[in-house]
Amino acid sequence: MQKPRILQVGSLGGSPGADVSLQENHEIIALWQAADRAACLAQAADVEVVVTSAMHGCGRDIIEQLPNLKFICNWGVGYDTIDIEAANARGILVSNTPDVLNDCVADEAWGLLIATARHIAAGDRFVRENRWENKEGMLPLGTRVSGKRLGIVGLGRIGLAIAKRGLGFDMQIGYHNRNKRTDVDYTYLPTLVDLAKWSDFLVVATVGGADTRQLVNREVLTALGPKGILVNIARGPVVDETAMTELLKSGALGGAGLDVFENEPKVPDALKQLPNAVLMPHQASATVETREAMFDLVKQNLAAYFAGQPLITPVN
Ligand code: 8YV
Repeated sequence: MQKPRILQVGSLGGSPGADVSLQENHEIIALWQAADRAACLAQAADVEVVVTSAMHGCGRDIIEQLPNLKFICNWGVGYDTIDIEAANARGILVSNTPDVLNDCVADEAWGLLIATARHIAAGDRFVRENRWENKEGMLPLGTRVSGKRLGIVGLGRIGLAIAKRGLGFDMQIGYHNRNKRTDVDYTYLPTLVDLAKWSDFLVVATVGGADTRQLVNREVLTALGPKGILVNIARGPVVDETAMTELLKSGALGGAGLDVFENEPKVPDALKQLPNAVLMPHQASATVETREAMFDLVKQNLAAYFAGQPLITPVN
């Protein structure tokens, strides 16, 4: 029997064995390996299915080249790099990988929060570089985490997992969403500036895309203030990176723990030089268990599509 043909936009190498596993059951056209992108897309003109990731996305340029496209299967919960408008206009289905990564993303948000507040990355460098042994002073004092105020920008599935962990640290939890939730009794702040003023730690957990671009702007970051710590595990463009870097440098913002950046994998040199920032290369879902679960969902969605069944985790 002929294997179904799929255009794969980028490697799913972040899930061990995923690329090979896809090849076992499908005929894969690997766009990311093609020397000539246009020729590769022309060769894929008859495909019905695209597999991609949040990082590689599926823009209008690809969608327009594939007249038979019916399904875009995304490895990742965020689909801001997929042109949903273009997909909807043609009735193209889209799936993602929600829920299975909530816990690991929340865990990493907390790792960044504590690492930033307690100088864990800086302390590691201090020991390795023999500065402790050589008695080169000490690290600056950290900021207490337990019992403080945790503000969450975007109290969705991941935001709730972050909030739950905050309760274990005896924290007060506040949040801002477009609408107040009726199913939680955390403190709702009507604007982001209000939330930032209220918070000791502000964690960004909202979706990416045009609607949330630069939501966390200079005014919000200034309201968080010199003692405040920002954590971003959402998408880089949600935060004004230039303003954040300037405010961290001047001390008008206390610290930042960042998993995501405006132009990944590029991180501004000015940010890399700041001692009050902890930087991670977009790793929040990167555990063996979660990446396995994400790829499982990709396989289940593909199987459902090819069996003519409803998708397991549709987006549109
Ligand atoms: C992945 C992510 O690292 O799920 C998401 O939205 O950003 C991450 O889990 C991403 O899919 C890699 O492209």
